[in-house]
Amino acid sequence: MKPKYYLTTPIYYLNAEPHIGTTYTTIVADVIARYKRMLGYEVFFLTGTDEHGQKVMNKAKDLNLDPQEYCDMVSGKFKSLWKDLNLSYDYFVRTTDESHMKTVKYFINKMIENGDVYKGKYEGWYCIPCETFWTEEDLKDNKTCPDCGKEVKWVSEENYFFKLSKYNAPLKKLFRENPEFMQPTFRRNEMLNILESGLRDLSITRTSFDWGVPLESDPEHVVYVWVDALLNYISAIGYPDDSEKFDKYWPAQLHLIGKEINRFHSLIWPAMLMSVGLPLPEKVFAHGWLTVNGEKISKSTGNAIDPRILIKTYGNDPIRYYLLKDIQFGRDGDFSEDNLINRINSDLANDLGNLLHRTVAMIKKYNGGKIPEKGTPTEHDEKLYDLIEKTITNYKKEMDELKFSNALETIWELVRFDNKYIDLTEPWKLEKNDEYKGMLDTVLYNLLDVIRLVSLMIEPIMPETSQEIFKRIGVEDGTFSDLSTGKLESGKNVYSDIPLFPRIDVKKHKKVIKMKDDTVKEEKIDKEEKVDEENVVGIDDFKKLQFRVALVKSAENIKGSEKLMKLKVQIGDEERQIVAGIAKHYRPEELVDKKIIVFANLKKTKLFGVESQGMLLAAKNEKTLKVLTVDGDIDSGSVIS
Ligand code: ME8
Repeated sequence: MKPKYYLTTPIYYLNAEPHIGTTYTTIVADVIARYKRMLGYEVFFLTGTDEHGQKVMNKAKDLNLDPQEYCDMVSGKFKSLWKDLNLSYDYFVRTTDESHMKTVKYFINKMIENGDVYKGKYEGWYCIPCETFWTEEDLKDNKTCPDCGKEVKWVSEENYFFKLSKYNAPLKKLFRENPEFMQPTFRRNEMLNILESGLRDLSITRTSFDWGVPLESDPEHVVYVWVDALLNYISAIGYPDDSEKFDKYWPAQLHLIGKEINRFHSLIWPAMLMSVGLPLPEKVFAHGWLTVNGEKISKSTGNAIDPRILIKTYGNDPIRYYLLKDIQFGRDGDFSEDNLINRINSDLANDLGNLLHRTVAMIKKYNGGKIPEKGTPTEHDEKLYDLIEKTITNYKKEMDELKFSNALETIWELVRFDNKYIDLTEPWKLEKNDEYKGMLDTVLYNLLDVIRLVSLMIEPIMPETSQEIFKRIGVEDGTFSDLSTGKLESGKNVYSDIPLFPRIDVKKHKKVIKMKDDTVKEEKIDKEEKVDEENVVGIDDFKKLQFRVALVKSAENIKGSEKLMKLKVQIGDEERQIVAGIAKHYRPEELVDKKIIVFANLKKTKLFGVESQGMLLAAKNEKTLKVLTVDGDIDSGSVIS
């Protein structure tokens, strides 16, 4: 029997149409689902929409629509976009589904039976955009929501409360004994801090409006939208009626969420499950936010990027590649159209597209378009085989740890080496001499075999590209059981008539992301550029450079060099080595634990034979040099803009 893997996205509110932020979580979930399927798991991938509550009801009212009619319309838009994005979810849950509402009623009755619910009066503040209760102490000075900064409303209602405080100690135990339950670690620590200050009981019903699931025992009350929403994770797999399905899939292996809803998933949700005696999910992973120019993407901030326009302009797979490569999963990351275009031109068109094109062209020219049998070895094969093995191992490790950017980097090292293998073996010379025909066959076979392996490994991230490559090189379909060298079938015909990824001509291309205040900015930039047209770079050039905060973990002088020092730094989840010319100005121990600024997307290089992945920034004059640091504490990995 196949092992199962149940993963979920948040269910999205319907007050806005899907934007690149909600698309991001769903794409990442799709990547994980496809990867697990390739590994042989029976995957259940759940997504859906969160349709009750005041926020959605108000939006429907604003449009003069009946809430259900409104929800049907917007929920349909989510479904249709997910289809266009080729997302492979197994079920789409809606909180207005009859079956879901039945589960909610059943679950709350169980909590009541277990003595975890009591009636009381709620007096305090409520944030409608976040659908969250706040006390006076929680609020910021100007009486706004501590999460979103919006205005809060005073609420005074008779409510039912869940004894959340009773689960403070069991939750602490869970967090201590099972660090894997909540990841990444720095977000787990935030939750532990909340537990240290103690949880308060939670109001779980509302009476001032009726767009929700009525409580069976007191139908004047509708269930609090968050309690209603969290239950989607079990209603969608048949709880409580379809026990066979429920027992098969529950507990979930992974709840994938954004960082702002961590409390609900890591504290309230497990407490609810503890209350009715159900097993807890294995892992909650809270990723960071996508920003545009440092601002969170959302409808209300006016910088929502329409994913439809993006995919129409650039295609699904390039967007997926960019999001997974450039955004360190878990951390916040800035969406930049310039960087997206760069990735398309360099990694996709140049590295991968060209490799396929060159290889197929040579097979056509030297072997009539048919994949040859492997012949006699060349002196460069062992290096290639070693790298293939290393790549496959590292790829799986990085994917298992949800480090997608590293996984792609690993694959691309192989892509780049395969390109280099052409230059090393020089097939055009081998072709000239019959004696070398066997070697030529080996080279052509190996080149294409690597392309097959790359195509398999990128399948979860770029499924359409992977299928296209398979088609062009005569591979029927691939699974990870084919993930080793020599499994390419000889004798098949190959072709590569149009480029896999057309290059984007940066000069002619019209970008599609428009910020609300773009016109104002463009005018400003125009003026600035006129002031000093020499010796200036445009903002677009600046945006290509990624500066990040890095924590120095260790430092040592490089033997034989007076100037150079080798630093190991942490940038978010990633460890890097940087070589810097600062040894005359600092002792290594002075740098350890400092948070410095690093130019992070500088091409890798070797200095004094030591690899350096990035450059630290420092200020200097004739006498001295000082390393740049940040003013106050901030997470390593934070973006400098
Ligand atoms: O919170 N960057 O729904 P929601 C990255 N209904 N991810 C983002 C993002 C951004 N800028 N903006 C949104 C809700 N997201 C509740 C969830 S679950 C039981 C109920 C993603 O429509 C991210 O996953 O506000 C975030 O947690 C989610 O959308 C919030 O979606």
